[in-house]
Amino acid sequence: MADRPYVLLSCGMSIDGYLDNATGQRLLLSNDADFDRVDAVRAECDAILVGAGTVRQDNPRLLVRSQARRAERVARGLRPTPVKVTVTGRGDLDPEARFFALGDIDKLVYCASPALDEARRRLGQVATVVDSGEPVDLHRVVTDLHDRGVGRLMVEGGGKIHTQFLTADLVDELHLVIAPFFVGDSRAPRFVGDGRFPWRPDRRAVLAGCQQIGDVVLLRYALSDRFGES
Ligand SMILES: NC(=O)c1ccc[n+]([C@@H]2O[C@H](COP(=O)([O-])OP(=O)(O)OC[C@H]3O[C@@H](n4cnc5c(N)ncnc54)[C@H](OP(=O)(O)O)[C@@H]3O)[C@@H](O)[C@H]2O)c1
Repeated sequence: MADRPYVLLSCGMSIDGYLDNATGQRLLLSNDADFDRVDAVRAECDAILVGAGTVRQDNPRLLVRSQARRAERVARGLRPTPVKVTVTGRGDLDPEARFFALGDIDKLVYCASPALDEARRRLGQVATVVDSGEPVDLHRVVTDLHDRGVGRLMVEGGGKIHTQFLTADLVDELHLVIAPFFVGDSRAPRFVGDGRFPWRPDRRAVLAGCQQIGDVVLLRYALSDRFGES
């Protein structure tokens, strides 16, 4: 029996591997059909995790949007939308951000120990702030999520979070959507940063499928033996 959730990492990037531009305005990489597909994937998960940088930069809702999918979750005895999770070193998050303000579900903040008191003061009314050591160890985060009943975790960015989950070999399934344009600005965040990734020329990842969705393409990779577990 695994002691961590099944982890699905989902992301969209430009042809040249960027997650966003550098303008401060959110860049839409996908199309409506793909956003709906992502909504369906979210609806199958117990929790959704993003880094504090994404909470600050994108102010995402991180909710299941389709009413039919929300109702279907409730019929299965679940909350309408998954638990929201973030990771922070500084704890400098706005309690009025949509991450905290929207959705009648738990919000978990895995916070580095030195910032814990300040984060609890700031966010204690809107989230559970968990002491996660210094620096925050993602193995500890996923083990704690497992202990809280999270069986299936969706990781939705940004680049620093992708890099850590992937280099730590904590991802079972990767969904990579490629948008049909370039960003061409090295100030913008990339899909991943530097690191020692388990999938290298001598250990190639398994391409489990590819699908055209309008003008984007979805690549699915199996990154562990657990791939496909429900
Ligand atoms: N295209 C997509 O699918 C997609 C999806 C999501 C995001 N994005 C884009 O990605 C960009 C944000 O990416 P990013 O790499 O800057 O940020 P990020 O990965 O979302 O968050 C990084 C932040 O998370 C916290 N963090 C991460 N790992 C930590 C650890 N081990 N210990 C303690 N804290 C940790 C730190 O927060 P503190 O600073 O609070 O210490 C760090 O600054 C945005 O431009 C967003 O639009 C794109």
